[in-house]
Amino acid sequence: MKCDLCPREAATLIRYSSAHLCAEHFKSYFEKRAKREIRRQIDVSPGSLVAVAVSGGKDSMVTLRILHSVFGMRRDVGLCAICIDEGIDGYRPPSLDVARGYCEEIGVPMRVRSFSELGVDMDRIAPVSGDSSPCSYCGVLRRRLMNDEARRIGASFLATGHNLDDMAQSILMNFARGDAERLARLGPHSRAQPGLVPRFHPLRMIPEKESLLYAILSETPFWDGECPYYRDALRNQYRRAVDELEDGSPGTRFGILSSFDAIRPLLPSGGRELRMCACGEPTLGSRCKSCEMLDSLRERIRGP
Ligand code: FES
Ligand code: ZN
Ligand code: ZN
Repeated sequence: MKCDLCPREAATLIRYSSAHLCAEHFKSYFEKRAKREIRRQIDVSPGSLVAVAVSGGKDSMVTLRILHSVFGMRRDVGLCAICIDEGIDGYRPPSLDVARGYCEEIGVPMRVRSFSELGVDMDRIAPVSGDSSPCSYCGVLRRRLMNDEARRIGASFLATGHNLDDMAQSILMNFARGDAERLARLGPHSRAQPGLVPRFHPLRMIPEKESLLYAILSETPFWDGECPYYRDALRNQYRRAVDELEDGSPGTRFGILSSFDAIRPLLPSGGRELRMCACGEPTLGSRCKSCEMLDSLRERIRGP
């Protein structure tokens, strides 16, 4: 099968649009969409520092690559990668090595924060996580350190590698839980809140498969190991459900995301101001979720 735009062999079929594209045309199609999202989601002014949450996985590495191609040559805009070491033996160290190698190659500074600063690590949290998935603890603590570091370095924005699959799953998950406030807090954040570095997601319109293909075709290094605790995650149920819907009706993920975008301005938390927890993190209540979580985790880790 030939590319729709040139005589080269097609590398992929974009199923929801029925386009056949060769490797070169696929890469430029991908970059065009990611860059359009960056322009749409953030307004970078001279002196801005853009932080990127990097895990070493394909999505965050592709996000870093694209942001570097947009801002890397600008002297007036800084770029910095932030990695979180959750303390997962055999999983996080090799992925951090991949991230470090790539940051060095493209000349982007990289900062690492670690769960050990909070007195915990995932390998000790997982056995005491009870009925909850270890990932739910991990997500909260990771977001805390990520936001803290982005704030500490004075970042104006924080990019994450969330792709279209992640977004569609998160939207359905919060709908199903009836958690409209959490739904409203999903990025990208259009207004700055005190203490919270606004997050944006260059890949939010790009399906995960395309992110993987782009990483391979562009020779972006990435670590494709799977977190040992991931199989327990509730998200997996939503992943399966969304994948099945997408298989039956291509374009479902876009549909979920665009419906969310349409109702977003009507969601409730728009008006509620964030307060400041004693740890410095923004919170809706008087104490942030990570502090509450840490209290109970430390107790359980220490044992009776
Ligand atoms: Fe956090 Fe897997 S990466 S639990
Ligand atoms: Zn082509
Ligand atoms: Zn706190």
